[in-house]
Amino acid sequence: MSVDGFSTATSRRRFPDDFLWGVATAAYQVEGGAGQGGRGPSIWDTFSHTPGKVRRGDTGDIACDAYNRLDSDLDLLASLGVRAYRFSIAWPRIQPVGSGSVNAEGLDYYKRLVAGLRERDIEPLATLYHWDLPQPLEDAGGWPLRETAERFAEYAAIVARGLGDGVSRWITVNEPFVVANHGYRTGVHAPGRADEAAAAAATHHLLLGHGLAVQAMRAELDAESQVGVTLDLTVVRATTDQAKAVAEEIEAESNNVFLDPLLVGTYPAGIVRASLLPSPELIMDRDMAVISAPIDFLGVNYYAPRTVGLRDENDELRRGEVRISDHPGAVTVTGEGVASTAVGWPIDASGLYDLLVQLHGRAPDLPLYITENGMAAEDYVDPEGSVRDYERISYLRDHLAAAARAIEIGVDLRGYFCWSFLDNFEWAEGYQKRFGLVYVDFGTQRRTPKASADFYRQMIAANAVPAVTG
Ligand code: FCB
Repeated sequence: MSVDGFSTATSRRRFPDDFLWGVATAAYQVEGGAGQGGRGPSIWDTFSHTPGKVRRGDTGDIACDAYNRLDSDLDLLASLGVRAYRFSIAWPRIQPVGSGSVNAEGLDYYKRLVAGLRERDIEPLATLYHWDLPQPLEDAGGWPLRETAERFAEYAAIVARGLGDGVSRWITVNEPFVVANHGYRTGVHAPGRADEAAAAAATHHLLLGHGLAVQAMRAELDAESQVGVTLDLTVVRATTDQAKAVAEEIEAESNNVFLDPLLVGTYPAGIVRASLLPSPELIMDRDMAVISAPIDFLGVNYYAPRTVGLRDENDELRRGEVRISDHPGAVTVTGEGVASTAVGWPIDASGLYDLLVQLHGRAPDLPLYITENGMAAEDYVDPEGSVRDYERISYLRDHLAAAARAIEIGVDLRGYFCWSFLDNFEWAEGYQKRFGLVYVDFGTQRRTPKASADFYRQMIAANAVPAVTG
């Protein structure tokens, strides 16, 4: 494959001039420095140190050691040519016990990060909650408890006050579906609880936390500052007409349970199982108005579409089919010949296009950012010292081409953040799954930009996606 399509103006897709090209990370996945700077413990410290929770017992104690490598990582970021950097703030660095006084050393770390980005002409995009809840708040009940949403708004105000000068774009919560579902319903993520009612309550309090944080931040920030939220949204396809109903149901469970409250102030009725929705007594009078107060943009994390089909309980499964436990008779299907990533997610950029068009149809005036997109691959440094991740180059090219097509038909997409800047701690998968544009040798912390980093830099410089020429 050749990616030398940059030179031929006719064969490439251009982006709007102010398109925000970035890369993304999250605090627990890259920072390390777990015991440094007065940081308190989070649920991910506890979870990763619990045997059997994370593959091979990996933890984020050291991760990419980004906490101690601020300047050199900033230089590395700048060398990628990115215009923006999405990072998350570790709540337990700011408030080590999740409430009360501010840990100045923690806040100072992010002030230095933001100043360093500005010096290099890189826009900061700060996420307030990327899953590292201070452990004392979980001990008190965690997200299933309403007070956690109130604590979150206090923390949001502190951070807005401390960093509002340098940061003009904010994301409240990253992927509330994953927090509620993986953290409280299946328990495969921290805090590892498997309690359906707790997950439904967490859903409401995550949304409420978002809404209260928006209010609290707007009171601290200037009028130009933008505040949004990031959802992981899925396109669910059906293998047959008969499977359409279940596909719609599954899509609504992850997308509409969050989109509907945010956009129209109601939980989806009818299509979603009642057990996934917060019970009415948890929803106080003004909650839905708080949750649906206008946001400045929606962040979208997209990795792969999902395809579902029907298969009777007694039928034998075909290759590539996996039963969906919550939906008896339904299976997830990975079609034959469909390439997939190192975490097994199918590669299909048309899902991104469909999703963007669908969102635009629902909320035409809401600016969108792709706040995460990327792939895990079996990367390694070869004897010449290179990481030739050609499959990631194709993935990025195809997904950016899909994004460009969506813009051409009128979708208000303002930017794209590749997940991820660095290989990092991939939650329950530990360090084996590499998503970075930059390879990290975790034992030595040596960073090696992959071929995809070079490709990404070229796309940014051209403000275009090249055509495939071979
Ligand atoms: C998303 C997370 C992000 C990263 C990617 C692969 O769900 O937001 O932290 O782990 O998946």
